[in-house]
Amino acid sequence: MIILGIETSCDETAASIVVDGSEILSSVVSSQVDVHHKYGGVVPELASRKHIEDIVPIVKEAVSKAGINFKQIDALAVTQGPGLIGSLIVGFAFAKSFAYTLGIPWIGVNHLEGHINSVFLESNPPVFPFVSLLVSGGHTSVYYVKNHTNIELMGQTRDDAAGEAFDKVSKAIGFGYPGGTIIDRLAKDGDPSKIIFPRAYLDKFGFDFSFSGIKTSVNRYLQTHNNEYKNQIADIVAGFQEAVVDVLSCKVLNAAIKMDCDHISIVGGVAANSRLRERAKLDAEPKGIKVYIPSVDLCGDNAAMIAATGYYYLKDGKSSDINDDVYSRIKNISTKPMDRSGPRI
Ligand code: KG4
Ligand code: ZN
Repeated sequence: MIILGIETSCDETAASIVVDGSEILSSVVSSQVDVHHKYGGVVPELASRKHIEDIVPIVKEAVSKAGINFKQIDALAVTQGPGLIGSLIVGFAFAKSFAYTLGIPWIGVNHLEGHINSVFLESNPPVFPFVSLLVSGGHTSVYYVKNHTNIELMGQTRDDAAGEAFDKVSKAIGFGYPGGTIIDRLAKDGDPSKIIFPRAYLDKFGFDFSFSGIKTSVNRYLQTHNNEYKNQIADIVAGFQEAVVDVLSCKVLNAAIKMDCDHISIVGGVAANSRLRERAKLDAEPKGIKVYIPSVDLCGDNAAMIAATGYYYLKDGKSSDINDDVYSRIKNISTKPMDRSGPRI
């Protein structure tokens, strides 16, 4: 089944052609970083307008790079939510009308399920059931993944997402948006043990997160070291990054042990972080747990993960209806809280 995937939930316009949910023929991502950089974050109205400009050329480019024509597309998958409403509407309305014109089925996909399924676009994916840590700019959650479409929430952030913390710390230091890649690069020259920031484990045996405290703690450090912090940037960001990575790695391992899983995946924009990729493996392997992290291109928002997720629903005979609409907040993935008591590791 040849599926055209479309993703416009935030500040990337993306289109991709994927065969049978696993073989990527093309994946085109047009970033809006240049539009939003000077504002220090994504401006929703500007994002929607840019999606409108980019959607047609990006879809054309994805189809042409895949070496197919429109008539060969069997179905369409598009992000339905969560995300910025104005941005989602652009991709969703385009997908509806395009599928209607071609006379093919289409399906609205949950962006978070897209990230979780991104790991199946790589060879040797994890085996069900496994535990997945989703770390992005808008979400930080741990899931118990029973299959491609049956995914249970184990815990989530109570305030900021991990990516949001990276972005806010970058902004406070004066590097701006998007912060994750900048901090990742600068931290390589720093010593993570020189400036220690607090680790918010909350209930150490539960799976909820909190990242607003560490951001405040970095801000306080910058204020109280106003004269010297400019010479300590690498150590500050390395210390901050290590604190975030410590908590993420500990929680996902705790969750895997609790659910008796020996496979975990880490997905979403922050999964591109080089220290997180390294640490998760260092921590997990001695415990006999295998870590699966997609290649960096598949960590950030992309449409291949949307096409792949759409495939699993369409294969089960599901499709969307012309009256369906986008949603801004989490839907579909079970939000039923699980038993919080976990083992000590
Ligand atoms: O998944 P994503 O592309 O979009 C959302 O769905 O939110 O994630 C974007 C987030 C941003 O907060 C960005 O700063 C962060 O991922 N990010 C990183 C890295 N690359 C992107 N965070 C830490 N280290 C990175 N290398
Ligand atoms: Zn995302």
